[in-house]
Amino acid sequence: MSAAALDFARQHQTRFLDELKSLLRIPSVSTLPQHQEDVRHAARFVADELRRIGMENVRLIETEGHPLVYADWLHAEGKSTALCYGHYDVQPPDPLDEWTSPPFEPEERNGNLYARGAVDDKGQMYMHVKALESLMHAHQGRLPLNVRVIVEGEEEVGGEGIARFVREHPEQLKADFALVSDTEMFAPELPTLCVGLRGMIYTEIEARGAKTDLHSGMYGGAAPNPFVALAQIIARLKDINGRILIPGFYDKVTPPSQTEIRAWRTLPFDEEHYRATEVGSRVLIGEPGYSVLERTWARPTLDVHGMPGGFTGAGAKTVIPAKATAKVSLRLVPDMNPAESFAQYQKYVLSLCPPGVDLDVRLIHSGEPILVRTDNPFIRAATEAMHEVFHKDTVFVRSGGSIPIVGDFERYLKIPTVMMGFGLPDDNLHAPNEKFHIANFYRGIESIILFLEKLGS
Ligand code: BES
Ligand code: MN
Ligand code: MN
Repeated sequence: MSAAALDFARQHQTRFLDELKSLLRIPSVSTLPQHQEDVRHAARFVADELRRIGMENVRLIETEGHPLVYADWLHAEGKSTALCYGHYDVQPPDPLDEWTSPPFEPEERNGNLYARGAVDDKGQMYMHVKALESLMHAHQGRLPLNVRVIVEGEEEVGGEGIARFVREHPEQLKADFALVSDTEMFAPELPTLCVGLRGMIYTEIEARGAKTDLHSGMYGGAAPNPFVALAQIIARLKDINGRILIPGFYDKVTPPSQTEIRAWRTLPFDEEHYRATEVGSRVLIGEPGYSVLERTWARPTLDVHGMPGGFTGAGAKTVIPAKATAKVSLRLVPDMNPAESFAQYQKYVLSLCPPGVDLDVRLIHSGEPILVRTDNPFIRAATEAMHEVFHKDTVFVRSGGSIPIVGDFERYLKIPTVMMGFGLPDDNLHAPNEKFHIANFYRGIESIILFLEKLGS
């Protein structure tokens, strides 16, 4: 049985990759209003393909933002039900001039496929679709277990639409476990399951000073400058060692167990290589007493993403802007609570407000941190399946990234999630020259085929 599905996948690798390229040509950037139609176009592409391979009840589910794509096949009586999740939206491609080939014109170079969304997450989501197609073909139009598919178009902007759907219609996504392929392998050739994600709160601080922009010579020294105010506030959010200074912020942080920390020490991690090749900075920063993996997986952080406003063009303009904004996000770890963390942050920021400036502290979106359960047959089947493909034992890692809906699967659907991802550490997620290692696209499809077959046998 499994040989037939694997054979089919191997025989159709080129077609699968060509189809993925077509999907990557659609610039489905969820955060940019001018791409709204492209985002919908990508949703239709995914829905059409699910229909073509034989999935049933395929439909777009409208939300207040971008649509969800739903499909199911529920005729494997007595078998368990998988919920396959992915996202078809992508991050903005800028800065464009740093891409070797244009972000929405997928190009193969050195065994990699370069495009925005190649690995995050169109390529990985598409592995699910192609695994299902291969299984359908090998099992005479049937699947070895029941499958629901839910693909969202708002993951990169917080996933509010899917969160609401899961909350309001848990029965429509009833399943025994979720499969998410939106994470990375710890190293090339090393099969990896991700068992923890950080949560986040994404915020904006808006500072307003004078009633209008002012000449900085005529008024400088008397008029408040909202950028300086933001700089002063931001400088007091974190100390020089990276410790966040918001009162009470660390109260609910649960450190990883000794067993987990010991396991992390055995991972093949070369801090110097990471600094030089992945980060490319002179030194790494962070809290003393914590390893890099602990800092990025198990400690909260705060980052500033941009400060829109004022004059940012070429050359010089002497202006005191009336208004300035800072986009600030905080990553959370178990068992921090986004609502509580935001309240602490908002209160602290407001307390730092210098004279002459009015502040608004807004929450843009949030997601809970999550640790998934590993003592279940789904995780075991995943490690067995990947062993057959990679001939290696699976490592368990956490990730510093966030996938907001995973926490909701646990909370509202009450099911465990298997995060089986095939990205690589140098895939340039969210950055110029994003890529997917093509061999991993194929190995991912094969791993998922074997995984689902095991759970259906
Ligand atoms: N796939 C990523 C998250 C990720 C990256 C998990 C690497 C594990 C390893 C996801 O698409 C993402 O970028 N999420 C955003 C979420 C946010 C906008 C709510 C993130 O982490 O910034
Ligand atoms: Mn993703
Ligand atoms: Mn992403």
